[in-house]
Amino acid sequence: MKRRVAILISGRGSNMAALIDAAKAPDFPAEIVAVISNRADAGGLEKAAASGIPTVVIESKPFGKDRAAFEAVLQRVLDEKGAELICLGGFMRLFTAEFVQRWYGRMLNIHPSLLPSFPGLDPHGQALRAGVKLSGATVHFVIPETDAGPIVMQGAVTVADDDTPDTLAARVITIEHRIYPEALRLLASGRLKLEGDLCKALGRAVSGGTLVAPTLK
Ligand code: GAR
Repeated sequence: MKRRVAILISGRGSNMAALIDAAKAPDFPAEIVAVISNRADAGGLEKAAASGIPTVVIESKPFGKDRAAFEAVLQRVLDEKGAELICLGGFMRLFTAEFVQRWYGRMLNIHPSLLPSFPGLDPHGQALRAGVKLSGATVHFVIPETDAGPIVMQGAVTVADDDTPDTLAARVITIEHRIYPEALRLLASGRLKLEGDLCKALGRAVSGGTLVAPTLK
């Protein structure tokens, strides 16, 4: 049985599209049962609808700071859709600790940095200001702290001296689109094991590859 996944978005939804694409494969262990946006103008909504995925808008603005009230509506929609897992794809709204606890171990997020470095806003600007030579993306389980939680998968890219936040973002997003579907595959097929703050992937070896920047002579 495929696991039922809801994707939560606030914007263009390119990670959402990567997950929807991956889930089209007959042997993918998850199906996308809904895309839920907290903004009616999220570009991803059209993309999801074009792929035949049911979309729901729950405008968060009218709820103001009442996060629990927003989440009550969200939870109702998740229940209606029979969602078992949640993937956040650029969902720019914080959750209460209660909601996160309820979904602990069943809710993934992707962030465009090698966490725990550079959580929060402007991760690419943060990376460039720190002068790191490698950056990347992280899929992790969601905990109450923003852009933190047991790390499921990471992918790295090199950072060039003349990178701007935009050029770095363009390199990182291609990695995001590769690792998010794989992380969901692992979760949905029951191959992730949480051990405290750590997440282990059963039956997956590490490739042993290295990435060096600037290049070795
Ligand atoms: C992605 O780069 C994602 O990693 C980031 O928002 C972007 C959404 O793009 N998420 C965060 O920064 C979470 N803190 P998308 O809508 O095209 O997937």
